Amino acid sequence: MNILTKIFLIFILLALVAILFTLGSRILTPGTNNLDMETPGPAIENNGMHQLPQPNTDGTMSLEKALSQRRSVRSYTHESLSLSQLSQLLWAAQGITSERGFRTAPSAGATFPLEMFVVAQNVSGLGKGIYHYHPHENQLELLREADVSEALFRACLSQSMILDAAAVLVFAAIFERTTNRYGERGERYVYNEIGHASQNVHLQVESLGLGTVVIGAYRDQEVEEVLELGEEYRVLYLMPVGKP
Ligand SMILES: Cc1cc2nc3c(=O)[nH]c(=O)nc-3n(C[C@H](O)[C@H](O)[C@H](O)COP(=O)(O)O)c2cc1C
Repeated sequence: MNILTKIFLIFILLALVAILFTLGSRILTPGTNNLDMETPGPAIENNGMHQLPQPNTDGTMSLEKALSQRRSVRSYTHESLSLSQLSQLLWAAQGITSERGFRTAPSAGATFPLEMFVVAQNVSGLGKGIYHYHPHENQLELLREADVSEALFRACLSQSMILDAAAVLVFAAIFERTTNRYGERGERYVYNEIGHASQNVHLQVESLGLGTVVIGAYRDQEVEEVLELGEEYRVLYLMPVGKP
């Protein structure tokens, strides 16, 4: 083998090592940029935690248009909701918008009594079940794999939107977080906050071209039994969401 052939072979070997090294590091490094992708893949599941796509903070519909078009919508097609859409709705309700942990909706004394749950019925990348939103991590925690649509429908006085929705957003509160600071008046503040958060969702739904309605007419105890959220939570509102 002459010297030129040897140099050529060493060059090829080095090139191969470089290619393998680059490929290997891509495979081994967690996909930290996944959230930035325009079309996110299925949620990454890890001990029941699903990472949500990064919410968009610069949408195209003006606030005035969303306000003027907002309407209660009670019938939906059977189209699924994407994980990005669900992420956007949860962010509108309670997303973190400051380094101090403040959110899209105001909170009396920053006591943050609200917790968001999701009944996923037809969400791409998520199995049917009940999930808890963790706003700081932008994650959804699977609490229970179950199809509770029929039971929830009955608890909501047979309002058909519950059956037809791709997902039902459940607004719950831990009153003590606020009443511990403000006493009885804190109860009023919790109801005020539900109004802020649900209106945010209503407008976000509008800007995504989806449909929703707030549901306040339901049997409290029955809904809480169906969802099994835990003694500390009071369910205050439900918002079924689907494609009109
Ligand atoms: C506190 C509250 C509870 C409501 N509960 C229900 C409900 O259980 N079912 C329903 O179909 N609509 C419910 N709605 C929606 C109202 O019926 C609706 O907002 C009203 O008809 C006005 O229509 P719009 O939302 O399109 O402006 C509720 C609204 C509020 C503010």
